[in-house]
Amino acid sequence: MEVTVNATNVEQDIMTRYRERSAGSRARHLEAQRYLPGGETRSSTWYAPYPTYMAAGEGAWLTDCDGNRYLDFLNNYTSLIHGHAQPEIVEEAADQLTRGTVFGSASEPQVALAKLLIERVPSIELLRFTNSGTEATMMMMRAARAFMNRDIIVKMDGGYHGSHDFVEVNVSADIKSASEPAARIEERGVPEAVLNAVMVAPFNDLAAMESLLREHHQRIAGIIVEPMPNAGGMVAPAPGYLRGLRDLADRFGLLLLFDEIVTLRLSSGGLQEAEGVIPDLTALAKIIGGGFPVGAFGGRADIMSQFEPAGAGSLSHSGTFNGNNITMTAGLAAMQRLDQGAIDRVNALGDRLAAGVNALFASHGIRAQCLGYGSLQQIQWTDEPVVTLNDAARAGQGIGKLRELLHLELLNRGVYTSNRGMFCISTPMTEAEIEFALTALEGALRALKPYMNEVAPRLLGWNPHPPAPSRRSMST
Ligand SMILES: Cc1ncc(COP(=O)(O)O)c(C=O)c1O
Repeated sequence: MEVTVNATNVEQDIMTRYRERSAGSRARHLEAQRYLPGGETRSSTWYAPYPTYMAAGEGAWLTDCDGNRYLDFLNNYTSLIHGHAQPEIVEEAADQLTRGTVFGSASEPQVALAKLLIERVPSIELLRFTNSGTEATMMMMRAARAFMNRDIIVKMDGGYHGSHDFVEVNVSADIKSASEPAARIEERGVPEAVLNAVMVAPFNDLAAMESLLREHHQRIAGIIVEPMPNAGGMVAPAPGYLRGLRDLADRFGLLLLFDEIVTLRLSSGGLQEAEGVIPDLTALAKIIGGGFPVGAFGGRADIMSQFEPAGAGSLSHSGTFNGNNITMTAGLAAMQRLDQGAIDRVNALGDRLAAGVNALFASHGIRAQCLGYGSLQQIQWTDEPVVTLNDAARAGQGIGKLRELLHLELLNRGVYTSNRGMFCISTPMTEAEIEFALTALEGALRALKPYMNEVAPRLLGWNPHPPAPSRRSMST
């Protein structure tokens, strides 16, 4: 009897093959549910039917607890620029481990990593270390509010800056409002009072920002922006946008805050260097810890001097593990091995991946695109221009479980990505790894076409109005 391939068959087939290869993960997940809510300790790493338990990593590859191997394009959400267990980082961190992890004192590795970062990132004259990117943006925003003696920070509609209360506003873009986005709290438990200190504006829209600032600038301390929002969809800043934000901040007398927690990997001094736009404060994290928990915030000396402990009215900033020896040593080892040449190489591989993904979409008649820059790439399920984060959020509508199924099907084919379709390149990768990913993606797209046909038909078929490309080179 002939079986008609429909969306339900596709989903069942992907799930069945996933379950068949992951009995060990399933058993561990069942046990984990007794101790961790939903068997997880991190919302972003959970996915149905249960997450794969990775057991070991080496270079660009991961091995799960069932012995399956995966090419790792997640790299712990962009933080592992050198992949896993890079021998020199391991050696230097292990050596430090034998001499003590943290002393509750000042230490030389802190100074060495701070010096390296300050030499590279144009905006940073002084910095402080934290244990996560969340803490880094929280302290950076507090520093801005204290310096300006004003409460409000403007963030982008759809921008993600971690999980402290003052950034849990419009993390997903407001796709309901017809005009300007309305500020809303996304998480239960975040006090309504937060909305007294946060305003939102659409990314890549200078006119909207200007009108907001004209009306409210006297109450605004600064604007926080990720120069290329990653969780928001890897949407590139339009030519002149970041420069325009800098000009607006100067014109209205407020601070510009860059969250370069992810984008630092795109150039040795971050996107601020590549784009030639220098903010007042910058938050860093991810790659600067060499695989260990980390964050940092820094910027203009007059703003950061507020943290001088001996200063009058000094701002307090503590943290038991701030600047611990292991993070600092591993971070220094990782960053010393990441010069501009290494960055150019991973960026070129990322661009090669993007070209391959876009060629696959074109040859299979799928109306989707790969957005991003260099070593950071993201599938967007639309071929319309994606300019604001609202556009990116709309691209994710009306596609059923396509993102989730693609993620599982890529796992079935030995490729580990984020479940929102992000691919991130690490230095151990070569052309061969990019080809491996493209072959897996082509197989996955073929498997998913009947699903698209039924659940998201807008993705298939001829486009009478070929779109203008949304990608852009950062140098234009
Ligand atoms: C742009 C951005 N800012 C802040 C954060 C928060 O960093 P962390 O997860 O280290 O708290 C992230 C994490 O993904 C991020 O992508």
